[in-house]
Amino acid sequence: MTLEQQSQNSLLNSFNETRNTTLQLVKNLERDDFGVQTAVFMSPPKWHIGHVSWLNEIVLSKTQQDYKFFSEELSEYLNSYYNQFGKPHDKSKRGVMSRPTVDEILEYFEVITNRVRDVISKPLDKETMYLFTMAIHHECQHQELLVYDLQHLLGDQYRPAKRNESPISLNKEKRRLELMEDYTI
Ligand SMILES: [Fe+2]
Repeated sequence: MTLEQQSQNSLLNSFNETRNTTLQLVKNLERDDFGVQTAVFMSPPKWHIGHVSWLNEIVLSKTQQDYKFFSEELSEYLNSYYNQFGKPHDKSKRGVMSRPTVDEILEYFEVITNRVRDVISKPLDKETMYLFTMAIHHECQHQELLVYDLQHLLGDQYRPAKRNESPISLNKEKRRLELMEDYTI
C-alpha cells in the first residue's frame, strides 16, 4: 500500500469515527430536546448536528465541480460565519425555529455523510485531503461545544415531571384489595 493510500484510508477512518461520535453524543436525547436553546450563548443539538454537516458541504462545494447544496434554506439556518453564503441566521434565535425539523436534520446528516464518504473513498489531491481533514477537526470542536451545551440544556432547565397518584386511582386500588379479601374469605 502506498503512503497516499495509507493516509487516504486513515482520513476515511477518522471521518467515520467522527460522524459516529457525533451521533453517539445525542443518542439518549428525547426528540423534544433537539431543538431547545436554553441560553443565547448555546445552540440546540439539532443545530450542531446540521452545522457540522453543512461545513462538510462547504468543502464539497470547494472541491467538487458543479456541486449543488442540499438546500438553500438549510444552509441559511446552519451558516455561522460565511457571508458569501448569505446572512447567517441569528445565533441567539437558533432555538426559536421548529423548521428544519429534527428528522430533516438527521436525514441531512446522513446524506452528507454518504456524499463525503463517496468522495474520500477515491484518490484525492493534497489540497482536498487537507480541507476534509479540517472539516473533521471542526466537527471535533463542535462535539466539545455540544457537550457543554447539553450540560446547560439538561442542567437547570431539565426537570422531569413527577406523577402524583390521583385519588381516584388510589380509591380504585383500595377497592380492588377489598374485593380480593372478600374473595379469599
Ligand atoms: Fe462551526
